[in-house]
Amino acid sequence: MTTPQQPRAQWLGRWGFVLAATGSAVGLGNIWKFPYITGEHGGGAFVLVYLACILAVGVPVMMTEIAFGRRGRGSPIDAVRRVVTESGRSPLWSLLGWMAMLAGFMILSFYVVVAGWSFSYLWKMVTGQLAGSNVDDMVAIFAANNANPFNLGFWSTLVTLLTMLIVGKGVQAGIERSVSWMMPGMVIMLLILIGYGMFSGGFGEAWRFLFSFNAGSLTSDGMLAALGHAFFTLSLASGAILTYGSYLPSRTSIARTTFSVAVADTLVALMAGLAIFPIIFANGLNPGEGPGLLFMSLPLAFQAMPLGTLFGILFFVMLSMAALTSSISMVEATVSWLVDNKGISRRTAAWGTGIVLWLISTLAMLSFNLGADWTLAGRHFFDWLDYLTSRWMMPLGGLGMALLAGFVLKSESFREELGLAPHWHALWLFMVRYVSPLGILVIFVDALGIARVEFGMHWPWLLLLLALVTLAGEILSPRLRRTLAG
Ligand code: PFF
Repeated sequence: MTTPQQPRAQWLGRWGFVLAATGSAVGLGNIWKFPYITGEHGGGAFVLVYLACILAVGVPVMMTEIAFGRRGRGSPIDAVRRVVTESGRSPLWSLLGWMAMLAGFMILSFYVVVAGWSFSYLWKMVTGQLAGSNVDDMVAIFAANNANPFNLGFWSTLVTLLTMLIVGKGVQAGIERSVSWMMPGMVIMLLILIGYGMFSGGFGEAWRFLFSFNAGSLTSDGMLAALGHAFFTLSLASGAILTYGSYLPSRTSIARTTFSVAVADTLVALMAGLAIFPIIFANGLNPGEGPGLLFMSLPLAFQAMPLGTLFGILFFVMLSMAALTSSISMVEATVSWLVDNKGISRRTAAWGTGIVLWLISTLAMLSFNLGADWTLAGRHFFDWLDYLTSRWMMPLGGLGMALLAGFVLKSESFREELGLAPHWHALWLFMVRYVSPLGILVIFVDALGIARVEFGMHWPWLLLLLALVTLAGEILSPRLRRTLAG
């Protein structure tokens, strides 16, 4: 077992963890991805399943991850190994930590490309290059921006450099200091934009699109996307939250901070929807446009509105900052692992990680131009990174953490770390033992085509299944623990 040479850094301020973890959670996922996948999957019903996933799976798994991080005081690999060995279990479980760290790295490899879009659009906004009179013009600008690998590569390289610069400075001087001004700034800008959306003429339609429940519009693919996105948007099972948790002072309440982060993240996603969809509906655009939704529709609206350039700049500054506070969290796991285990300085670790990241993200970036024909099973490299992490690695990692905490490890470890009143602890245990795993499994079964789960019709059966599994689990769990321990 490795022990770090120096005592591990901790967040300085009372709000350090909440700001950093919210900074990690709130990102392109909320402002770019949530609106477009909601558009693709038909609106209200998707939003409802997504909210259920946040509550039933996201929150319990996030609490578990933070507890792992703080108890193990290390990167995902070291922290998980310490916590499992404390319970006398096999160190092989630290494979979960490896998978998380790899997921964080893979996500960042495509994330910097999208963040690069945001930075390049900010530049275009400032220099007046987003002039066009209709959607077709905007589609052409978006396509031209992607077609040149040097242009696209320049912006993703810039994001990589900024990320590494901040992470290289350390937990307090780099991460904590940067999020403490970027996060409040972001919220103010978002509020201004919603204020605009309210008067743009499409607000009512946007509201109905997001919040009216129509079970028929939800497909099983939509359900899987909702679950994958719940993990993605809360930065779960990718090393970020666990590593930030490892810097959490021991007296801070994990449950309370988790709730603050989850609520803030959900609010920002819904607010982003309320800022973006009115503009889309007011301009007669298609909400199911896909990944380009934000970049093709908003610039058009900004041109038509009074002070549009100013609002446009505000928007892309906000989006770029949101992206950056998330990017830094994705590499922190790798950097802290290198620092703790390889005896190198944080700066060297950050730049070394940055070079590898740059190489992989360049491949992802090429999916939009030179490598437009390089597909495997219909997916580009960029899409594979997104698909593998969101749909498989994050849900599987979350499932592993939940089962580990729920059934395998000593219950005292989590009782001490979470410090909850008995009835709240029982609720958390019920969630990580049964509700979260079952939720993940049902959606996998559906996605693999083993059985079809129609959410609208089958929920009574799902509740019955949950009751039966809980009963069986509670009767069998001592035996189960012995088996898993062996
Ligand atoms: N939560 C971020 C977003 O919604 O944009 C994405 C993310 C950050 C995923 C950090 C994973 C991660 F480790």
